[in-house]
Amino acid sequence: MTTGVEPTLEGARVRLRPLTEADYLGIFRWYNDAEIVAPFDRFEVDTWESFVTAVESAPGDPRSVAPRWIVEERTDGRTLGFVGYYSPHPILEYLDVWYVVGDREQRGRGYGTEAVRLLIDHLFQRETVERVGATCDVDNAPSYKLLERLKLRREGRLNRALFHHGAWHDVFVYGTTRGEWTGTAARG
Ligand SMILES: CC(C)(COP(=O)(O)OP(=O)(O)OC[C@H]1O[C@@H](n2cnc3c(N)ncnc32)[C@H](O)[C@@H]1OP(=O)(O)O)[C@@H](O)C(=O)NCCC(=O)NCCS
Repeated sequence: MTTGVEPTLEGARVRLRPLTEADYLGIFRWYNDAEIVAPFDRFEVDTWESFVTAVESAPGDPRSVAPRWIVEERTDGRTLGFVGYYSPHPILEYLDVWYVVGDREQRGRGYGTEAVRLLIDHLFQRETVERVGATCDVDNAPSYKLLERLKLRREGRLNRALFHHGAWHDVFVYGTTRGEWTGTAARG
């Protein structure tokens, strides 16, 4: 699996670019705000040092769940959120993507969908994997609707796989194959 510095990815309205030091504080604030990043997820407060270490070591580590790209508005360079991917399984060869629109005012405008589309395009171009997926809490409608808008398939449900907010939660598994994705690349 390829590792190294991530490229900048240009979409119609958003740009995905690697983090620079100037981004760290803003992203750290969002990252440590459970209401922003984890309404349906496990949450742990990160220290500044471990956050910086995680971000800076992510490009060399396919298993890292640290943010890998800033999502910014192309016209004015405003930071909208951040995205990443990771190799979730020790044997199976696929990648899972994750995504946060940190600026809540900017949700519901298609930015998240475009960012994830760019990310999956890039992963299929650069990596040899045949499948890219994502998981989300079964109650995380904004997340699974985004995945369904991109035509990822709901492949299953993992019962009681995620503990957050004091309880066990079920998780949907979504995925798309290289053939499905590239065969339908013109999706809106
Ligand atoms: C999940 C998340 C990233 C979605 O991001 P988002 O930018 O709000 O998603 P989008 O704007 O692309 O899609 C949301 C809505 O915008 C609408 N939309 C899509 N394109 C649009 C456009 N060009 N203009 C206006 N609205 C648009 C969609 O129809 C959708 O509406 P619907 O949910 O009623 O169908 C965001 O809610 C978030 O950060 N959540 C917290 C973190 C999280 O849970 N991440 C996922 C972990 S698994």
